[in-house]
Amino acid sequence: MEKILLLNIILAGLSLSALAANTNNAEKAVLLTPPAPRAPRINGPLVYGVRPGSPFLYRVPCTGERPITFSAKNLPDGLTLDAHSGIINGKISVAGTNRVTLIAKNSRGAAAREFRIVAGSTLALTPPMGWNSWYIHYNRVTDALMRQAADQMLASGMADYGYQYVNIDDCWMKKKNDPPFRADDGTLLPNYNFPDMRGLADYIHGQGLKAGLYTSPGPWTCGGYTGAYEHEMQDAKLFADWGFDFLKYDWCSYGDIAKKADPRLTNSFATPAEKNLARYKFPYELMWGELQKQNRDIVFNLCQYGMGEVWKWGGDVGNSWRTTGDLGLQKKSKLPAFYGIGFKNALHPEAARLGAWNDPDYLLIGWVGDAHGMGEGKKTALAPDEQYSYMSLWSLMAAPLIFSGDMAKLDAFTLNVLCNSEVIAVDQDPLGQQAKILRQTDNELVLVNELEDHGKAIGLFNLAPEPSKISVTFSDLGVAGKQTVRDLWRQKDLGAFTNGFSAEVPRHGVMFVRIAGGK
Ligand code: GLA
Repeated sequence: MEKILLLNIILAGLSLSALAANTNNAEKAVLLTPPAPRAPRINGPLVYGVRPGSPFLYRVPCTGERPITFSAKNLPDGLTLDAHSGIINGKISVAGTNRVTLIAKNSRGAAAREFRIVAGSTLALTPPMGWNSWYIHYNRVTDALMRQAADQMLASGMADYGYQYVNIDDCWMKKKNDPPFRADDGTLLPNYNFPDMRGLADYIHGQGLKAGLYTSPGPWTCGGYTGAYEHEMQDAKLFADWGFDFLKYDWCSYGDIAKKADPRLTNSFATPAEKNLARYKFPYELMWGELQKQNRDIVFNLCQYGMGEVWKWGGDVGNSWRTTGDLGLQKKSKLPAFYGIGFKNALHPEAARLGAWNDPDYLLIGWVGDAHGMGEGKKTALAPDEQYSYMSLWSLMAAPLIFSGDMAKLDAFTLNVLCNSEVIAVDQDPLGQQAKILRQTDNELVLVNELEDHGKAIGLFNLAPEPSKISVTFSDLGVAGKQTVRDLWRQKDLGAFTNGFSAEVPRHGVMFVRIAGGK
């Protein structure tokens, strides 16, 4: 019988966590992510989609001491790179894959990295990364808070790791009790908190970042603000004219329309199941069609909580789709809510592919609001090890990495969870796969994801309320021979192992590793 080699992990972080009592505030917040090197390191996705003819905007995510001088080899015609900011602008007119080499230099050294710019019909070739206003600002969101978030995305360093979208959620339009909702010609009116939508998008773009917004296919959003119903064409054009790059489309009051059947849905259906599916899909198909007509790339995020098994068709009409209800509204259980949502989202790995992602909702860590009363923010109640598990789970599931806490109150621990280049690289892996469940019991979850370089990312999650040893054999992983195991959070090789490995994992915590894998 094969004997599993044990990993003897006596690393500072784990032993501190293991010693801790079962209450989260007794657990020490150990920063596992090593500080970024002073020499440049280029982060972010390795592959990036754009439609020919659309405005191109990309700020090269790069850590290291500033000033950094950027350059590129084989940049396609139509694009220019600003050497100082690392922002690429322009337009590609020809479809095809461009293998660009990005180069970054400072007084400490240089880095070069291949970046494939794919001019074609597919956007969001890797899961979108960014920030959304909902779980901290709710109906208090303003233009100024959005600009602050963009500023902070740069100042905090998040943009240097690939965070890019700065997205307004609900509550930027006029509310039900505050007519008029549209101008005489039907043009949608923002509310007094958003005096200049185009100016806001320009401001965000000026930082090399992307701007996102939110609406509903129904007459009203979930918060009771004006939706796009019967104005889809006009609203899509307006969003593009303003310069927005991302749209979240939230079902909300469309439920009332769908119940009786949208009068615009005139097809006849062979079976009730077909009709049912069409009712779910129709509003998204409609808006998706309108977005395709715009001269701007707008990533489309479906939000309808998993209805009609959206993972089976979401990729036909959008770039990502929420698979579950709101994470912030989940009831208490033995495990933190992200686990329950994660378990559901983890059931559909076959749905994920380049440009089409399961979305288990936002990263609710740091200083974050209370969804129930749309309350003010407070420090997350999640223990440090739980936060490492949350981020690892999202990364293994190739989930959009959208932080929704307060950008003005980012602390070192939160940033160490959000900004680990090797953890993010699993999420952004260009193969575009979502991890599969290798093993799940009440006490443990083992997820494995295939990576483009034939390696595998493996998450050993301890669901139990006390530390526990979790093992995996190489035969279960489908690999043989010696494997170098790398701890992704600590960015450290743990050595070469022959038959498998195991780790002592803290309560509700994770051991997140990568192996080079077989052929
Ligand atoms: C729904 C969505 C949330 C958020 C709110 C806004 O609940 O699922 O993500 O957008 O609406 O009202």
